[in-house]
Amino acid sequence: QFDALEEPSNAIVIDAAATPDVIVERIVRQLSLVVRVHVLADVDALSAQAAAAAVDIINAAVAAHGRCSLALSGGETPRGMYRLLGTQFRAQVPWAQVHVFWGDDRYVPADHPESNYRMARETLLDHVPCPASNIHAMPTHLSPAADAAAMYEKVLREFFGDGDGPAFDLNILGIGEDGHTASVFPGTPAVDEQERWVVAAHTDATPQWRLTLTLSALCRSTNIYFLVAGATKASALRHALAADSDPHVYPAAGIRPTTGTVVWWVDSASAQSRRG
Ligand code: 6PG
Repeated sequence: QFDALEEPSNAIVIDAAATPDVIVERIVRQLSLVVRVHVLADVDALSAQAAAAAVDIINAAVAAHGRCSLALSGGETPRGMYRLLGTQFRAQVPWAQVHVFWGDDRYVPADHPESNYRMARETLLDHVPCPASNIHAMPTHLSPAADAAAMYEKVLREFFGDGDGPAFDLNILGIGEDGHTASVFPGTPAVDEQERWVVAAHTDATPQWRLTLTLSALCRSTNIYFLVAGATKASALRHALAADSDPHVYPAAGIRPTTGTVVWWVDSASAQSRRG
C-alpha cells in the first residue's frame, strides 16, 4: 500500500529521530505559522505578483493604524518589485503614510555602489512621494559599526516602542545560496541574539561589514515576503522551507514568526529541487 500513497503537498515534515519534546515543539510551531509558497514562471512574474500583493498589505496597514512600516532588503532579486512599486503601482500606494526601513545594509557610504539604501533610492524612493522624514536609512557613517547598529536600534525602538521587537507591517527578504537572509550569515551571533534587535556583522563571506536585524527581530514582522529567483538558490530554498533545518546552518530557516504570515515568492528555477 505504501506505493499507492501520494505524498501530500503541504505536509509538515518533522524528523522522527528527534526527542518527543522537540517533535511536539516543531509541530506546534509549524501549525501556528501561516506559510505560503507561490511558484511563478520567472523573476518578472514573481516581482509583479509580489508588488501587487504588497500594495494590498500597505493599504490595509494604513487603513488599520494610519501608517505602514515597510522594511526593504538589498541584493538583486527585489529590484524588479521595487521598480514596479515606483511605476505601475505608484498611484495605488499612500506614500505619505509609508515609513521605509532596511532589514540590513552594507557598512558603506550611502552613495556606494554596494549600498542597499542606494539601490532602493535608484529603483524606488527617488520615484515616489515618500517624505524624507519617513525614510529611515541605516546610519553607515558612524564608527565603529557597532555604534551604528545601536543607533539604528534606537530609531526602531522610538518608532515601534520598547516591546519585544520591530513589528514591520511588511518585511521584504531575500536568501543567499548559503541560506543567509538579511545579513544573518550561517554560524554568526545574529542567529541566536535575543536581546539586541540590530547588530554589526562580519563574515569571510562578505568583504564589507554589515548592519543587520537579528533573526529574532526579523521574526517580529507581521508579514514577511521572501523573493527568490534562480536555480542557484534551489538548495537554500529547500532547506529554508524544511521544518527541521538548523538556522545556524540555514539562517533563513529561522524565519518562523510565532504570528503573522510568511509568503515565498519564488521562480520555477529555484523551486526545481522541491520536487526532487
Ligand atoms: C543583501 C541582502 C541579502 C540578499 C541575499 C540575496 O544585503 O545582500 O539583504 O540578504 O537578500 O544575499 O541576494 P540576491 O537577491 O542578490 O540574490
